[in-house]
Amino acid sequence: MPLVPLNEILSKAEGEGYAVGAFNCNNMEIVQAIARAADEESSPVIIQASQGAIRYAGLQYIVALVNQAAAGVPVPVVLHLDHGTSFEQVIQCIRYGFSSVMIDGSQHPLEENIKLTKKVVEIAHAVGVTVEGELGRIGGTEDDISVSEAEAFFTDPEEAKYFAEETGVDALAVSIGTAHGRYKGVPRLDFERLRKIKQITPCPIVLHGSSGVADEDIKKAVSLGVSKINIDTNIREAFTEAIREYLPAHPDEIDPRNVLKPAREAATAIIREKIRLFGSSNKA
Ligand code: G3H
Ligand code: 13P
Ligand code: ZN
Repeated sequence: MPLVPLNEILSKAEGEGYAVGAFNCNNMEIVQAIARAADEESSPVIIQASQGAIRYAGLQYIVALVNQAAAGVPVPVVLHLDHGTSFEQVIQCIRYGFSSVMIDGSQHPLEENIKLTKKVVEIAHAVGVTVEGELGRIGGTEDDISVSEAEAFFTDPEEAKYFAEETGVDALAVSIGTAHGRYKGVPRLDFERLRKIKQITPCPIVLHGSSGVADEDIKKAVSLGVSKINIDTNIREAFTEAIREYLPAHPDEIDPRNVLKPAREAATAIIREKIRLFGSSNKA
């Protein structure tokens, strides 16, 4: 199927109470794993590219790979820019064929974030591309800040409502206690805050840093109205651990295809598990 924007799959997810997985890709094998998992689960899916992925693979390779993957499966696929850093980058992605973009203005003061995000929304919507904004800071697990320091960056519900109304974003990433990367301890999510945000904010809510969050907490977040869930680290772990396991058992192997096949299979398996957990199986 041709690529679709976020709203085509998130409004159904919101209406029926499930979430759609947004999986980060870096290479052909991970793109194939995401598309295969979504196909096998008959689920809509979001394939997203981070700054690191764009640096590694190149924007146009990512667009070509994801278009090819989407054309080969009968489920809706979104190609989404993850944590877009600037107006220029977002425009480039739209120009090359992304069906959705994130502009992450969360490091700016509120009014500046609104101004930048609104400008992106105006242009993206004119060509049928959807936009995710971010309010509150979602750090990395390596940032080494205390819980009370992290809470200072949590999203304020009233501000979330104001931000969504002012910008017209199609989805909003919020900070409620998750972080990017591998957690050192157990992440504690502020569900009360999420409940309040969802009650008053007029757009779908996105959970970042979702690898390593307990299944029960993911289910609770979905029940409270999260409808896009970002996963990167769990795919990296599955992919790389499969290679780490394969190589010592096959010391003479030199064919990269044989090395990467189990990695692609491991990535497919973890993505299928996440899709089932999010409740989007058979929702394509
Ligand atoms: O935004 C979260 C991504 O996991 C960051 O990934 O290292 O590919 O830029 P990156
Ligand atoms: P994780 O790597 O923690 O799963 O986070 C992914 C993410 O939020 C990408 O934007
Ligand atoms: Zn993120």
